[in-house]
Amino acid sequence: MLPTVEDFLKEFQLSSSDLVFASSGTQKRHLAGKLSGATVIDYRAYGQGEPTDLMVEGIVKALGGKTYDRVFAIGGGTILDVAKLFALEKLSPVTDLYQKKFPAKKAHKLILVPTTCGTGSEVTNISILELTKLGTKMGLADAALYADQAVLVPEFLKGLPDRVFGASAIDALIHSVESYTSPKSTPFSRTFSRRAMDAIIEGFLAIQKDGLPAREAYLEKFLIASTYAGVAFGNAGCAAVHALSYPLGAAQHVPHGESNAVMFAAVYEAYKNKRYDGYLEKLTLHIANLLRTTEDEAFPKLMALLDEILPKKPLKGYGVKEADLKDYTDIVMTKQGRLMANNYVELTESDVMGIYQKLYNQA
Ligand SMILES: [Fe+2]
Repeated sequence: MLPTVEDFLKEFQLSSSDLVFASSGTQKRHLAGKLSGATVIDYRAYGQGEPTDLMVEGIVKALGGKTYDRVFAIGGGTILDVAKLFALEKLSPVTDLYQKKFPAKKAHKLILVPTTCGTGSEVTNISILELTKLGTKMGLADAALYADQAVLVPEFLKGLPDRVFGASAIDALIHSVESYTSPKSTPFSRTFSRRAMDAIIEGFLAIQKDGLPAREAYLEKFLIASTYAGVAFGNAGCAAVHALSYPLGAAQHVPHGESNAVMFAAVYEAYKNKRYDGYLEKLTLHIANLLRTTEDEAFPKLMALLDEILPKKPLKGYGVKEADLKDYTDIVMTKQGRLMANNYVELTESDVMGIYQKLYNQA
């Protein structure tokens, strides 16, 4: 049985020497009067949308050199990603940190508690941030960013808005799929990938049958599955779906899980058109089995299921202009090498441009 919020607070005994990252909603819903004088940061007080270098610098400034012992993050993946940086001895200028101009060195205990069932950030050594000067999101992967403890408390997931739930659960599914087909996958990472896929697709089928409220009965399973997917991609990596989604997320402020959902089918179709064998074929057969359908129908049926969980739009529906597609492609090819190295088949600049062009008019 996983812990309750009360169990968590009892175990960790927050104090005034702790730094806690939590949204105002999480504070109100679960932590009112229970923070024991800890310094609390709501990153949304430092800027709009998903986190940027500017927001991180704003928090550094607000802390004004204040010292603290442990860093807690209770939130979605973006909150966890920001908090990871504050466990380092030095994090500013944050753009320099991401470009490895100085090393990441751990200085504080880091305790990560996810409140969405998606990012798996609690078990990875990666922090994703939008670097405004570079015009894209970038990932910093460093062992110094691992949590000392990751705590799974399903109660924190209660009352998640439908779209936040949908986007984060689809993100977790994509982590499991991309890590499964990554050339860096291993028998161990693929086991975690498959377990995550099985639980998430089972939960989605229950939602398809009984509606979104049915998810409440599956929250613990979704939370564990997203952490399994985190272990899988923390070892084998994510790939082109994430790489192509970052420019859209950064430019149009589309939530991470939704921008991934937009790219998912087209990226896997591009792989399939270039080479269909090995773990791509095994993945397709596994999905067909879970959805009780044929190999040919596996991806179309999966996409139809995901559309019921979270409807998505063509790129132009998010405000993208046709002229932007070249810039998006350039960003993917020049700044997302870390992810593009994990593609099932190499995708060239014209492949990437072709995917964006296809998605421009078609969801
Ligand atoms: Fe993701």
